[in-house]
Amino acid sequence: MATKRGSWKTRYGFYLLAVGSACGLGNLWRFPYVVGENGGGAFILLYGFMALAIGAPLLIAELMLGKGTRRSVIVATQQMGQKSGVRSLRWVGRLAVLVSIVVLSYYSVISGWVLHFLTQFLISLFSSSDQVVDKTNLAALMSNGWLQLMLASAHILITVVVVVKGVQQGLERWIGYTMPLFVALVAILVMRSFSLPSTPEVLRFLFYPDFSKLTWSSLNHALGHVFFTLSVGFGTMVTFGSYMREEDHIPTAGFRVTIVDTMISMIAVVMIFPVAFQASNVPLTDPALMFEVLPKYLLGVPGGVLFGLAFFVCLYLAALNASIGLLEVVVSNWVDAQKEMERGKATWYSGAIALLLTVLPALSSSIFKDIRVGGRSLIENLDSLLINWLLPVVALGILIAFNMGISEKEKELGFVDKDKFVSYSMYPHWLFILRWAGPIVILLGLLLQIVGVFTQ
Ligand code: PHE
Repeated sequence: MATKRGSWKTRYGFYLLAVGSACGLGNLWRFPYVVGENGGGAFILLYGFMALAIGAPLLIAELMLGKGTRRSVIVATQQMGQKSGVRSLRWVGRLAVLVSIVVLSYYSVISGWVLHFLTQFLISLFSSSDQVVDKTNLAALMSNGWLQLMLASAHILITVVVVVKGVQQGLERWIGYTMPLFVALVAILVMRSFSLPSTPEVLRFLFYPDFSKLTWSSLNHALGHVFFTLSVGFGTMVTFGSYMREEDHIPTAGFRVTIVDTMISMIAVVMIFPVAFQASNVPLTDPALMFEVLPKYLLGVPGGVLFGLAFFVCLYLAALNASIGLLEVVVSNWVDAQKEMERGKATWYSGAIALLLTVLPALSSSIFKDIRVGGRSLIENLDSLLINWLLPVVALGILIAFNMGISEKEKELGFVDKDKFVSYSMYPHWLFILRWAGPIVILLGLLLQIVGVFTQ
């Protein structure tokens, strides 16, 4: 079944790609406001539990699907469909790729916001301080739809050029080198924000679980974000798995990626919330939360402009890395499914589709600001549709395809390593989660969310 396909020379290559794809705006931008929306501590507990109990096992399954078939998600699920006789399983892969391209289009809008602050900090280095405050004003960016569209388009173009030129491996290595700097900057920020007077209140909010704050939708919000942040349900990990070396141990890799990603999300909340609580009038539930509080705070501290510039450069590189992953999924699926399609052409076409799709979310807070559904803006609704509704459905589909198409023997071979006792003892639990707990929890989450919609 396995055909000749490129694979990494070292294990390092896989981690760079998988961790790079998982850690992005989802951790620093999205997680804090989702925690704000769902009331703090209790949600963080729920989220952490779901990441380990459902996210990691599914991540392992996706990697195994890719490593076993040496194919991207569309062809992989097609093969599962043929093996099990349930041909409709091929729709799972198609839906995953559709979700990927729509997510890329709206992820580009947020990456555009990062680009905006990056350039503003750069300009601020050379201008007087009172001009600076104006320029980092989020409201100005929000009301300027064309600027947002331009920035998002620039981001898509950069992503396409990187993938077309085939320089992503070099770039990824380079991004890997900047990550220690990013970690250092974040550590400094965490220490600084912990010295703010709001800290005791924040700690209580984040780590004292008040379960009455959870809503009907909280379980699904936790699951949706777990899938989004781990890049599960997009087919990304299937593609990465298809490049793994024969001797790589999938469960170890899956767990490591989950742990690193979850830790970064936790650090993000302890970094953002003290500053957000300090600036009392910021709604914690607003998708612009990070962009609202961080630049203003940085401008108020000595050396903040340089610090802010370094921070936003690193954040942009992380966003770019994640976007490259998203685009690669679309391209690799396209080329895998349609043999005569040339890689370069597929990349430009995918970029063009993303560009078209980005118009709506980019203009959401300006020209389309009056289009509100359920009291929420277009971009918020798109986010919710993709991450809280579609992603859990695709994840469930991948679980079903995996259970039906991969034999017991293959699963055991991929999971159990004779030299690792943990892999032995975890194996039955993993099977149980894939077969029962995972599907039931995902269905329950969706059901509760539907109840939430009707009781709103
Ligand atoms: N996991 C990324 C983030 O948290 C988003 C992403 C999803 C990237 C799917 C690639 C593929 O920002």
